[in-house]
Amino acid sequence: MNEFNALESKNLTIIIHTNGTEIPSIIYWGKKINNSIFDSNLSLAIKRPIPQAFLDEDVKVSLLPEEGRGFYGNPGLKGVSCRKSWTTQFQLQDMKFDSQNCNIKCIDKTASLELLINLQLDYETGVLQISNSIKNIGSNEYDLHDFAVTLPVDRSSNELLSFKGRWIHEFTTERINWNFGSYVRENRKGRTSHDNIPYLVVGNKGFSESKGELYGFHFAWSGNNRLNASVLSDGSKIVQFSELLLPGEIVLGKNETYHTPKLYAAYSSEGLNVMSNSFHTFLRNSDEFIKFKRKDRLVHFNTWEAVYFDHTAKTLNDLVDKASDLGIERFILDDGWFNGRNGEKAGLGDWYVDKNKYPQGLNPLINYVQTKGMEFGIWFEPEMVNSDSDLFRNHPDWVLQVSGYKQPLGRYQYVIDLSNNEAFNYIFERVDCILEEYEIGYVKWDMNRDLCQPGNNCGIVSVHSQVKYFYRLLKLLNKKHPDIEFESCASGGGRADFEVLKYTNRIWTSDCNDPLERHLIQKGFSYFLPQEIMGAHFGPSPAHTTMRESSLQFRILTSMIGHLGFEQNVLTLSDNERKQLKEYIKLYKKYRNLIHNGDFFRLDTDDTNLNAYGVVSKDKNEAVLWICQLVLPEFQIPEKVRIPYLNNNVEYIVNVLDKPENMSFNMKKTTDWLAKNIELTGEILEKIGIQLPVMDPESIILIHFVAN
Ligand code: DGJ
Repeated sequence: MNEFNALESKNLTIIIHTNGTEIPSIIYWGKKINNSIFDSNLSLAIKRPIPQAFLDEDVKVSLLPEEGRGFYGNPGLKGVSCRKSWTTQFQLQDMKFDSQNCNIKCIDKTASLELLINLQLDYETGVLQISNSIKNIGSNEYDLHDFAVTLPVDRSSNELLSFKGRWIHEFTTERINWNFGSYVRENRKGRTSHDNIPYLVVGNKGFSESKGELYGFHFAWSGNNRLNASVLSDGSKIVQFSELLLPGEIVLGKNETYHTPKLYAAYSSEGLNVMSNSFHTFLRNSDEFIKFKRKDRLVHFNTWEAVYFDHTAKTLNDLVDKASDLGIERFILDDGWFNGRNGEKAGLGDWYVDKNKYPQGLNPLINYVQTKGMEFGIWFEPEMVNSDSDLFRNHPDWVLQVSGYKQPLGRYQYVIDLSNNEAFNYIFERVDCILEEYEIGYVKWDMNRDLCQPGNNCGIVSVHSQVKYFYRLLKLLNKKHPDIEFESCASGGGRADFEVLKYTNRIWTSDCNDPLERHLIQKGFSYFLPQEIMGAHFGPSPAHTTMRESSLQFRILTSMIGHLGFEQNVLTLSDNERKQLKEYIKLYKKYRNLIHNGDFFRLDTDDTNLNAYGVVSKDKNEAVLWICQLVLPEFQIPEKVRIPYLNNNVEYIVNVLDKPENMSFNMKKTTDWLAKNIELTGEILEKIGIQLPVMDPESIILIHFVAN
């Protein structure tokens, strides 16, 4: 066994060190090392001193730091068996290695545990995947409390970019100094959540979109999680993610194994854009995320904000007419189509078409949608049940609950216990039956409440199983209906993580369609998730969730940054609005291939009220750029915008894609080049840039660059 082994991608190196007996550790994770000789010189070079008032031997941060070896931070494994075996000293058994994979096997005979650690480094993108498993090889039960995937980061990292949010305000970010102690976040909501999403960036103070050294982390799990980013007293810095386990949730019997979810991580020496691109490209290329490789993403019309629960054949048909006339390509029937669903208090669980609203079933509507050249999609919230439903009346014991306690409900609904076989089969059968009976191309899969008192019918905590069975449901449905696309929705963006993306094609980013809020939300989303899966809908003004009014131009251009859809009641549009929207949809279709397949970037701007994002094609011959003035500019004369992602020696034709008459007042008044096509080299665009006009608050310029 070599003392040092290197994992290598195109641009980076990770060096794993082992002393041959203990759990190995990562001693380097950063820019590619090309001329390396891993011998005793390196051992000497990195040997740490033993300071006064320390233990008499060095305690390094291993890939699973152990309390039993003198690690005083958060141990990687916490658990207990018969009140004994509460700590570990694993011995290395085996380490298999090639330049992209490392499999480590360790055993602790005293604690009767077997540990496996698996690391995989993607050559192209440098995305590292790491996961652990723990097996009980003894005959007593092992009560697992916490099992964290641990990665060290360079000691120079001293700033966190953390992610937070709430309903209609998802994916917002915060910068935090990271100098000492632990930064801990816990999600106990039973879904990925709106507020404690398992994403984190750590880096050198001041890292920006285009500069700085940093590491991005994404924990792929749609349930409870804990994040612990610690600066230890020996100066080491580590990031740990684990599934947050509730008491008694995982008890391993003899030969039983628990697997952590996967932690995905990426290093960048050139700021956040490189990190985002590593994740985006990885998701697009990896076979595990097969659902990404789809045809063009169709423009959506979703009925929710247009009609809510008020489904009538006449209105729906009129919506179909107007939607298809606008150039919309997929019509999605949201909540309200099934038995008893006339409001949010009843009906969930009774997945039978409501014959009062649809006397001949859904076919008349579906046929009409199809004759208009659109695809039909439908909404489900399969994991839930209202107490006012036949399902609950017949099976009140099918829900997650703690007997003897009153459960606070969410949106008047209980969560069905998916680990209950009968309940699971019922849900599968109902969804499957609707998908079999009707020609459906798309399913919007919703989940509108957090878990509370998640006990199964034996009274045991069941969040872990719930998440596993949720994946299983989706897996089975995907297998049976391979051509149907699924969207992950949870009161907006409450379930947005890499694991759910193994079974879904799109994420409903937020229930907030107010474009001003959307800029915060969509920017946060873009750090880890690519633009083609970001559901972005044109909504009404005033926005239903904020009552803020905004222009048509601001709303539609904001939605064009992702996967475009419409939430607005298209029957209430004026002729002029309809005309403008038709043109915008045409424009979107012309560029969606570029928008959905190119490299996304965010620009660093002087004005913090200015967001600028773009997409550049892989060959760098074409790009689009959104310049978005959110509120009043900070300075009287705006900055020149510089784009560092084009080819220096290529000449680009630069033109504005929007019509001058759609632009806001000040833009029309103050610019020359906006009305013309100008030609500039990539180098000029990077080094000198183009002068922005004076922009009004809530306005956008959409610029196109194409190699001449
Ligand atoms: C919450 C979703 O986020 C909305 O888009 C809509 O589908 C409603 N649920 C329906 O109940």
